[in-house]
Amino acid sequence: MHRSPLPPLVDSFGRRHENLRISVTDRCNIRCFYCMPAEGLRFLPRSELLTFEEIARVVRALTPLGVRKLRLTGGEPLVRSDLPQLVSMLAATPGIDDLALTTNGLLLAEHAEALRAAGLRRLNVSLDALDEAKFEQIARRRGLQQVLAGIAAAQRAGFDNIRLNAVALAGLTEEEVVPLCDFALAHELDLRFIEFMPLDAEQNWTDADVLTGEQLRLMVEAEFGPLTPRTAPTPSQPATDYWFANGRGRIGFINPVSQPFCDRCDRLRLTAEGQVRNCLFSTREWDARALLRAGADDAALQQLVRDCVAAKAPAHGIGQGGFERPQRAMYQIGG
Ligand code: 5AD
Ligand code: SF4
Repeated sequence: MHRSPLPPLVDSFGRRHENLRISVTDRCNIRCFYCMPAEGLRFLPRSELLTFEEIARVVRALTPLGVRKLRLTGGEPLVRSDLPQLVSMLAATPGIDDLALTTNGLLLAEHAEALRAAGLRRLNVSLDALDEAKFEQIARRRGLQQVLAGIAAAQRAGFDNIRLNAVALAGLTEEEVVPLCDFALAHELDLRFIEFMPLDAEQNWTDADVLTGEQLRLMVEAEFGPLTPRTAPTPSQPATDYWFANGRGRIGFINPVSQPFCDRCDRLRLTAEGQVRNCLFSTREWDARALLRAGADDAALQQLVRDCVAAKAPAHGIGQGGFERPQRAMYQIGG
């Protein structure tokens, strides 16, 4: 069926939005300090979460506006039961040509085959440290071996382009940088370092905790030799990518703090309870769940998202006067 095209989701700075990040839960099986509080968590009750059918409905309403790339996030998306079912619903949605999942890997060994069978083709695994003690210090839970087993299982299940995401933490993960590179090279994984952003629930972030992409690159080059810039396969991607010397593997740096990439942002977010956000650092949300549960039609959902896009600020403004942290922490937004 041919649908007449609707105007795309272009904001007031000319950025076109094609990418929707969908959080499926605020729960997680670990407690990374840069994201979750150690204690006193109150998770959303099930009734507050969008159902899979509601998520798929939002996606179907947005594909005619040009949304074609999806990423499932959390909390930890694999703690949501039957996630492969959502994957197959979304993978089968006309107009969606890219579907990815970001996971901490703990439950990957259990679910890799089902995810693959459901149509998932792209997988990011968060892994900040290869040292048990350091992993535990960051995640406030044990689990390194389980994550490594999860990565191996995913590779056996046929995921051949897994990306490792490592949040870099000053004074904490410098000694992990080279081992992570070695691990990524040995297992043919893409590696991306991410700067620590002020989205920790406990609000302890200071700019002194940020290990910048530039510092990281120098550390990598000191060990592995000069990196060769790699042309971004997708122009809107946040990472600056490189090849290791001799072209053996790829490495990238996501530098939201030291080198904001807001000017090429094409991302929208849907929280687990159905709120649409135009930025990680957005202080406003647009309530898609209320519309869904009031029986609104696609046009109303589309207008809500248009309003959200129209209100998008030019940049997050971290480090500038007047910067206001969002009330929500990372696990409540979706990475
Ligand atoms: N700063 C940077 N990255 C973060 N993540 C979670 N919290 C933060 C933060 N405060 C990362 C996770 C995961 C992805 C979803 O976001 O480690 O890789
Ligand atoms: Fe869980 Fe991800 Fe937050 Fe870590 S960063 S606590 S893995 S949701």
